[in-house]
Amino acid sequence: MAPVAVAPTEFKNPYRPGAGHMPPYLAGREGASAEFARLLDQDVILDNMVLTGLRGVGKTVLLDRFKPKAINAGWLWVGADLSETASLTEANLAQRLLTDLSIVTSSFTIEAAPPVGFRPDPDGSRQAALDYRTLERLFSDTPGLIQDKLRGVLEYVSTILASHGRGRVVFAYDEAQNLSDHAENHNYPLSMLLDIFQSLQKREMRFMLVLSGLPTLLPKLIDARTFSERMFRVVRLGRLSEQASRDAIERPIEAAECPVRFTESSIRTIMRQAGGYPYFIQFICREVFDVFIQQIRDDEDSGVPVEAIQRKLDTDFFSGRWARTTDRQQQLLWVIANLDNPEGEFTISEVVERAKVVLEKGFSRSHISQMLSTLTNRGLIYKHRFGKYSFAVPLMAQFIRRNYDGPPVT
Ligand SMILES: Nc1ncnc2c1ncn2[C@@H]1O[C@H](COP(=O)(O)OP(=O)(O)OP(=O)(O)O)[C@@H](O)[C@H]1O
Ligand SMILES: [Mg+2]
Repeated sequence: MAPVAVAPTEFKNPYRPGAGHMPPYLAGREGASAEFARLLDQDVILDNMVLTGLRGVGKTVLLDRFKPKAINAGWLWVGADLSETASLTEANLAQRLLTDLSIVTSSFTIEAAPPVGFRPDPDGSRQAALDYRTLERLFSDTPGLIQDKLRGVLEYVSTILASHGRGRVVFAYDEAQNLSDHAENHNYPLSMLLDIFQSLQKREMRFMLVLSGLPTLLPKLIDARTFSERMFRVVRLGRLSEQASRDAIERPIEAAECPVRFTESSIRTIMRQAGGYPYFIQFICREVFDVFIQQIRDDEDSGVPVEAIQRKLDTDFFSGRWARTTDRQQQLLWVIANLDNPEGEFTISEVVERAKVVLEKGFSRSHISQMLSTLTNRGLIYKHRFGKYSFAVPLMAQFIRRNYDGPPVT
């Protein structure tokens, strides 16, 4: 398990565990990239993209990789993270879209007669940059509801961009699971977004949506508008294959001509611990790399300190999430972690049955249902359609089993 040392020099650790940090080598994901390339090739936009996966599988960094591909293929790229505030109301979402769009449109100017319904520029100029001020003015001058106004502006912008030969625009939004309709306030930002893009695309305007987020995203889209099922190609990011995991581990130090190489047995250990999850690969490799450099310096050779790294991962990644749950929720999570296939999907009935076996005091169906819903809001569980659930955090079940031998509370 020992590292092979070439020279114990100072060398910067290349691994990048961290939300949205581009890895030194982005492994695998060829299928997703090919699908994106296909979507870029559409003359009429029939398909948009939904990119989903658990926390830390690499949605944000893949989206970042898509951007230069789109730009090289002649598309403009508009995008941001969708915060909860941006998604709260139709007005907020409209402002978000116009703000993001204005960044790429501000270098275009509009000439003379603005479209019907839009007032000319107050300073009398016959040319105006298509910047945020102009977009906002177009928006407020368009009659109708927020949805009509936003659609009006987007249509207008699309026509202007197309007249410059730049009519193709990707609207890429990360953390899109934050999008929601709010019937209680009569605010439907999610439905508005879907309706507008569908209507623009029907009229052959080449604005494409790429929404990335947790697995709750797709059911949300479909619940808002059933046509979402036909509107989006769904790319699910999961674990990396064995080869891709190996590449993610080895390539960074090869490429950087690092003085340290992982041995075959170290690579296998890292692969086993990380379970194919990109964040864990970066995290473990970063730790192992530091340990190896230290070992070389000290002329020691004790291999990969699996347990120490596991403990650090438990503390840094899992413990915070776990600590924010109540005793009873922890019991429930422990029962789930002890299902036959806890990393897969499960139903409430399965949990009821399991709880009867492993706990003195079980749970009722309604209690479980209510607790799962709280845990879903906390980002620990997610609900699929058709009454199935799973952990929203990869390898959470292993963490629970590793740290708890029995029900945390009796
Ligand atoms: N294909 C890959 N190969 C190697 N490392 C990767 C790959 N994809 C992601 N990573 C690494 O995994 C970590 C998580 O990536 P990222 O933040 O993009 O995940 P995410 O799916 O957006 O997570 P979240 O749901 O929390 O936003 C980062 O440290 C990143 O460098
Ligand atoms: Mg992300």
